[in-house]
Amino acid sequence: MQITQLDLPPEMIDLGVGQPDLALLPLDLIRQAATHRLGFDDPAPLQYGTEQGNAYFRRALAAFLSEGYGGAVDPRHLFVTAGATYGLDLICTYFARPGDTVFVEEPTYFLALRIFADRRLNVVSLPIDHRGLVPEALEEKLASVRPAFVYTVPTFHNPSGTTLSAHRREQLVRLSRRHGFLIVADEVYHLLNYTLKPPPPLAFFDTGGTVLSMGSFSKILAPGIRLGWIQAAPSLLGRLARGGLLLSSGGMNPFTSTIVESALELGLLAAHVERLKQAYHRRATALAEALGRQLPAWAAFQPPAGGFFIWLALPPDMDAEALQPAARANNVNFQPGFRFSAGGALKSFLRLSFVYYAEDRLREGAERLAAVLKNVGRK
Ligand SMILES: Cc1ncc(COP(=O)(O)O)c(C=O)c1O
Repeated sequence: MQITQLDLPPEMIDLGVGQPDLALLPLDLIRQAATHRLGFDDPAPLQYGTEQGNAYFRRALAAFLSEGYGGAVDPRHLFVTAGATYGLDLICTYFARPGDTVFVEEPTYFLALRIFADRRLNVVSLPIDHRGLVPEALEEKLASVRPAFVYTVPTFHNPSGTTLSAHRREQLVRLSRRHGFLIVADEVYHLLNYTLKPPPPLAFFDTGGTVLSMGSFSKILAPGIRLGWIQAAPSLLGRLARGGLLLSSGGMNPFTSTIVESALELGLLAAHVERLKQAYHRRATALAEALGRQLPAWAAFQPPAGGFFIWLALPPDMDAEALQPAARANNVNFQPGFRFSAGGALKSFLRLSFVYYAEDRLREGAERLAAVLKNVGRK
């Protein structure tokens, strides 16, 4: 069983870790926002919330996203979640039934595969290339299967780093309308762009209420606060809000929402995202340059334009998992590619993350990894 919590020996540089560095989690920001919010003589945040999420918070979130996305977001099109994970699970509850088929990308976010397995969904993989999901391959599959939804990570994809082009976003939405399926776009990395300004989230391409775009504060603020959102047409959001889970619980994380509302209103979050982008850009550059200098020529990757990851391709006959004992012995590690494949393929790939360590450790990690690969003895 794969454990996702961290328990690393101090010497280990685990480039497989995809969570933020503790040093970049903004304790002061949260303290300031909480002090601001709790300074009001108002116990309302301690009450049950509303199913779709507090309207004041959604208004502040819409203003923040309109700025970040470069296009107007309507607060009525936002639904507050306890992070993208809960959003995805909720979507599975109300928009798919056990035994239904969902389409995913190959590779895809490996823990989404676990959610689909928990939900007894049948998973079919679609290929991606350097511009993301390939619409022609989707169209071909649609001739024989109608999925409940297509799950895609369109921007700074986990694990491959690719971004779906604007033209393909339009094609995808057109297909969803023509064939009657939903698009579940997991857009948690959208605001973390370093060298590429991505096309707007898929919700901006929606022409007929077929798109649910998920966002999260996990990547831009702190994963521990468990807060995110779904952007979609009110007709879709209403299905989520009227379900038993939300009716009984009264909205997801209303207390945390009010703290983050203060962070948004005080301008703290926008400033923090700018700092994060600079720090992550430096880290991405440090890792990419070190890998470029030291890896054997047969190991290929694209320098990251945003997000958290570098996807490294080894020659097709190599098995990344088989290299892990040698890597661990050299105090370095990574995520083997097969985890990101619904069918256990992609054995010759591995995923590296540049967000958990500062530049020096990343350079050191690249050197250790390069030494392991060079030892394989391939010309
Ligand atoms: C593509 C993707 N979706 C969702 C998540 C989890 O997001 P959250 O913390 O908002 O549940 C991650 C985290 O690694 C991710 O990479």
